[in-house]
Amino acid sequence: MSPRPLPTESAPEATAGRTAHRRRYLMCRPEHFTVSYTINPWMQPALPTDTATALRQWQTLYDTYVSLGHEVELIDPVPGLPDMVYTANGGFLIDGVAYGAKFRFAERAPEAAHFTEWFAANGFEVAEAREVNEGEGDFLLVGETILAGTGFRSTGDSHREVGEVFAREVVSLTLTDPRFYHLDTAIAVLDPVEGAHRGGPDRANIAYLPHAFDAVSRAILAERYPDAIHVAEADGDVFGLNSASDGRHVLISPRATGFEAQLRERGYEPVLVDLSELLLGGGGIKCCTLELRGGTR
Ligand code: ARG
Repeated sequence: MSPRPLPTESAPEATAGRTAHRRRYLMCRPEHFTVSYTINPWMQPALPTDTATALRQWQTLYDTYVSLGHEVELIDPVPGLPDMVYTANGGFLIDGVAYGAKFRFAERAPEAAHFTEWFAANGFEVAEAREVNEGEGDFLLVGETILAGTGFRSTGDSHREVGEVFAREVVSLTLTDPRFYHLDTAIAVLDPVEGAHRGGPDRANIAYLPHAFDAVSRAILAERYPDAIHVAEADGDVFGLNSASDGRHVLISPRATGFEAQLRERGYEPVLVDLSELLLGGGGIKCCTLELRGGTR
């Protein structure tokens, strides 16, 4: 029997061209999930929801993250706050600092304090928001730049505030289609690595739905991200962009088949996770995922 070759630098992870980076996420079990009010066009209280299905689908997302080697923290769900499962809206965290959320609608306003309490208890320095903002739903860290969405939820003033809190460049983008009311429904960050563009051209790439933005924002995106994946409306419509990437694996909706093919062409590995029940609340994979950057661990 010939000895097995020792693993070398040409191990599969390296030869595939894309490197996975370990992430730390915050999620919230959808124990109280339902659709009892309408604050986005996807939410129709008249349609029945099934909490058991939501829990099962959510568990698959959780298990997928864990199986990919990511660390997932949990915040306790609170009765009467059915949208708390969408943890992306709970804040925006970089380098151990948590910029708190301030929700646009009264229905979600009480969530903010639960999230900031969790951040403080877990070693984050909390920066309370004075301006209306919905956390990582509208703020995306791309390389070292913060892309910030407005038009439906977070205000332009919050873009200024987030820039002050983190002392980083903020690029404001305006959303125009009410179905894509948060930035994370229209842009997917494919290479979520801080400093990805340090010392060279911006290598942190994105995918986006051009249709969701006004003309000025489309021009900004085209200029800054010439290699971006432009996603078709059919894939955007099934929340294909509401996805999470570790730089190699990109978790997307199984219905976003065009986007899946585009990702494969670029050397990413799409991982299909169906959250159809949570889409009844207007949220998908990214909405259920808040990235924890820095902090105690
Ligand atoms: N029902 C929630 C709302 O309208 C869904 C939030 C989705 N979250 C997101 N990050 N896009 O606020």
